[in-house]
Amino acid sequence: MPSPLNNKRVVLGVTGSIACYKAADLASKLVQNGALVDVILTSAATQFVSELTFRSITHRSVFTDLYSSESELSINHVALAETADIIVVAPTTANTIAKIANGISDDVLTTTILATRAPIIIAPAMDANMFDNAATQANVTTLITRGVFIAGPANGRLASGLIGQGRMVEPSNIISSASMILGKDGDFSGKKIVVSAGGTEEAIDPVRNITNRSSGKMGYAIAEAARDRGAIVSLVAAPNALPKPVGILVTKIQSAEEMKKVIATECDGADALIMAAAVADWRPLKKMDSKAKKSTSDTWSLELVKNPDIIGSIKNDSLIKVGFAAESENLIENSKTKVKSKNLDFIVANDITAKDSGFSVDTNKVTIIHSNGNIESLPLMSKYDVAHSILDRVKSGF
Ligand SMILES: Cc1cc2nc3c(=O)[nH]c(=O)nc-3n(C[C@H](O)[C@H](O)[C@H](O)COP(=O)(O)O)c2cc1C
Repeated sequence: MPSPLNNKRVVLGVTGSIACYKAADLASKLVQNGALVDVILTSAATQFVSELTFRSITHRSVFTDLYSSESELSINHVALAETADIIVVAPTTANTIAKIANGISDDVLTTTILATRAPIIIAPAMDANMFDNAATQANVTTLITRGVFIAGPANGRLASGLIGQGRMVEPSNIISSASMILGKDGDFSGKKIVVSAGGTEEAIDPVRNITNRSSGKMGYAIAEAARDRGAIVSLVAAPNALPKPVGILVTKIQSAEEMKKVIATECDGADALIMAAAVADWRPLKKMDSKAKKSTSDTWSLELVKNPDIIGSIKNDSLIKVGFAAESENLIENSKTKVKSKNLDFIVANDITAKDSGFSVDTNKVTIIHSNGNIESLPLMSKYDVAHSILDRVKSGF
């Protein structure tokens, strides 16, 4: 399944902020996702970055001047507005936000924005006081009311050296926003998908726990892929280091028991449950109230009790249920047993001993074992592509 950006015409507006350097990376990521990218630089932006940078990345003309006789805009000044599938302005200065909010069209970018019917993403970048200023806040509110998608700004270190809210969000975040907006009428539109991710933590005492090496990457990739096909996604996430995905409801939990409760609630009205989380099989029988003291003995026994079977406990027959199996031996046989005992539609088995597959890495090589006994071995792919392959099979069950 190609990215929702594939073959889409994206107008990338770049305005006069120090964050302009990030726009080159964004342009590159848009091109890598298959978009046809027309870059517009404001006059201030040309002080920070050159036309040549963006021409080299996009292999297309870069627009800076409405009146240039060499530009198609001198014949049809709204040409870019009419053909755009989406307009992304990143970074966006306080000045350009004010102009857009007030309908000013005194350069290529603001004229294109005023004339378009395409969705618009604005990624503000400015000093924290500029963003906090009542004028900027009122302008941002106006844009939100009119349906403009505001990406960020993030908290962090600003060009001034101060820490505050004003940093342009990362290009990958803007790619996610654009994918979500362009994919909203996709083949999962109107479907609710519940996804679990990460490795649960089972507390021993207030400072120690039992966990596993799951990074959460596979579950997050499934959640993002479903979002990019128009699904409403609820992600139930065990502790992990991944950034919060755009446009996805994330409920953070710690233990298997907490995950079971949230999933039972989230599955109400859902169309599919995809359990990519690595749920601990066992938990300490009793969590100690204070930190366990170092014993004088050389050994220490911890009594464990079995955790609940989360997916097996969901009895909704109209829900498509997909399990994951991370096995280091007898992958197929163990997975076949799980499909039956947990009443799954299919199970995604990954061999965690294989190179480039399983925990932490960005790729995965999986085998899908269906309830009817069919077995499909998929090639090594990015986790995002594996996610789409899983969703293709979920879709065939709708
Ligand atoms: C070094 C420097 C950095 C600047 N960074 C920002 C910024 O991050 N955000 C912002 O709103 N304005 C910033 N400005 C001010 C804008 O460049 C100025 O308001 C300009 O008129 C914006 O024009 P534009 O919106 O047409 O690109 C900066 C100015 C300078 C000199």
